Amino acid sequence: MKTGWGVLLFLALVNCILAMRYLLPRVPFPAQLPNFKLHRIALTGHAAFAGIALLVGPFQFLDTFRRRWPTLHGRLGWLYIGTVALGAAFALPLTLHAGFGPISGAGFLTLDIVWLLTTAIALRWAIKLRFDLHRRWMLRSYALAAAAISLRIMLPISAVMGLSPAPSYRAIAWLCWLTNLALVETWLRLRYGTVTRVPLVHASSRAGGQPDNRS
Ligand code: HEM
Repeated sequence: MKTGWGVLLFLALVNCILAMRYLLPRVPFPAQLPNFKLHRIALTGHAAFAGIALLVGPFQFLDTFRRRWPTLHGRLGWLYIGTVALGAAFALPLTLHAGFGPISGAGFLTLDIVWLLTTAIALRWAIKLRFDLHRRWMLRSYALAAAAISLRIMLPISAVMGLSPAPSYRAIAWLCWLTNLALVETWLRLRYGTVTRVPLVHASSRAGGQPDNRS
């Protein structure tokens, strides 16, 4: 667990630092994307805010950190939510001219919407003091933020494998977040099972007799 968290923090830090290069007046090795010319301000805003969200996230999941500094957990929570909102808002125009066209644009747009939704749901559960559900939804939200890490692992792998850039980029725009979401969902189910167990009496009266397991 500790090693996994350390690896995650390291990857988040590297990606955050790389993202912050867009704030420099002369961007070193900018991504060769139409957005760099077409939506420079949006790309810069997106990289900066989303980069902060990516770096803040891992600290929020540490039990000792939360227990020892609950106020700081709350403040960093608001920082995460604020930077997700701004990072996602700046990403919207980028989805229109994403590299290799509308298929990748649609992948990023869907990611953007799901990122905002999962974060909003996590906040709602915190306000209602349902911290069990707050944690689950924040894990989903952060898994989506970490799509930025998966994307930057998947792209070089596809290049090393000699796959053509256009179809790879289009596929990875979807795979980078769907893979993370599938992994976190599997982990949540293995770790916590399901939240709401409808009593078997009710379950058996449902079509198919399947218990209603909502999370
Ligand atoms: C999770 C929701 C996110 C969405 C929907 C999203 C969306 C996008 C889009 C559409 C682009 C332009 C891609 C293109 O033109 O083909 C982009 C680029 C970029 N994004 Fe994100 N992104 C997200 C998360 C993040 C995070 C968490 C970071 C933090 C590191 C990040 C950092 C960047 C950077 C640095 C670029 C510029 C391209 C590069 O240098 O690789 N993004 N993003």
